[in-house]
Amino acid sequence: VKVSVLLPAAGSGERIGRGPKAFLKVDEKTLLEWVLEGFAWADEIIVALPKGFEDTGLSVLTVPGGATRQQSVCNLVQVATGEIVLVHDVARPFVVRAAVERLLSEVRTSGAATLAVPVPDTLVQEQSGRYGAVIPREHHRLVQTPQGFRREVLLQAHLKARVEGLEFTDDAQLVRWQGHPVALVEGDRRMFKITYPEDLLLAEGLARVWNS
Ligand code: CTP
Ligand code: MG
Repeated sequence: VKVSVLLPAAGSGERIGRGPKAFLKVDEKTLLEWVLEGFAWADEIIVALPKGFEDTGLSVLTVPGGATRQQSVCNLVQVATGEIVLVHDVARPFVVRAAVERLLSEVRTSGAATLAVPVPDTLVQEQSGRYGAVIPREHHRLVQTPQGFRREVLLQAHLKARVEGLEFTDDAQLVRWQGHPVALVEGDRRMFKITYPEDLLLAEGLARVWNS
C-alpha cells in the first residue's frame, strides 16, 4: 500500500524566536533535513512551507503552509496520493523507525492511529497558583506524531472541520471528532517536539549518539 508522508513545517517558531523551526540546525542539518532522512523510505513526501521560505534547495514536493497547523495539513492531505498518510511534525527531528513501523501496522488494520507516550511526572491542576487536584497520570498520554490515517478518513475530516470553522491541535483529534476511533500506539521519547530553546540542547545531545 502506498504511503504518503505529510510534513507540516510552516510554523513560525515563536516560542524559540529564531525564525521557522524547520530551518533551525541540529548537528549541521536542518530539522527538515533530519525528518526527510527519517522518512526516506516513503513512497511520497510532501512538505508545507512557510510563506517566503519556498526555496529550500531540496528536491521535495511542497505546498503553501496555512495560518494554523490544521490549515497546513489540510493543504497537504488534499494533494496526497497514498492510500495511507502519515502526518509528522517537522519539529520532531528524530524519527524512530521501530515506532513508525508499529504505527503503520496499526493504521493498516484500523485506519487511524497515533503514537503516544506515558506522562512521566505528577500531573496536577493549577488553581490560582496553588496545587490543585492530581490527575491520575496512568490514565493519560502525551500525544506525539507521526499520526497515521487512511487518506480518505483524514481528508473528509479536514474538509468537514473547515466547513464548520473548527480548529484542532492535531489530526487524531479531528478524526475522532468525526466519530472514527483512533488507536494509541506506543511512541518513543526520542520523538520529542522541539518547542522551547532548551529543547535544542537536548536535540544536540541526542544527535551526537543518533547513528552510533
Ligand atoms: N505548523 C504548520 N503550520 C502552521 C503552524 C505550525 O505547518 N501554521 C507546524 C510546525 O512547523 C511544526 C508543527 O506544526 O512542525 C507543530 O507546531 P509547533 O511546534 O507549534 O511549531 P510552531 O508553530 O512553528 O512554533 P510556535 O508555536 O512556538 O510558533
Ligand atoms: Mg505553534
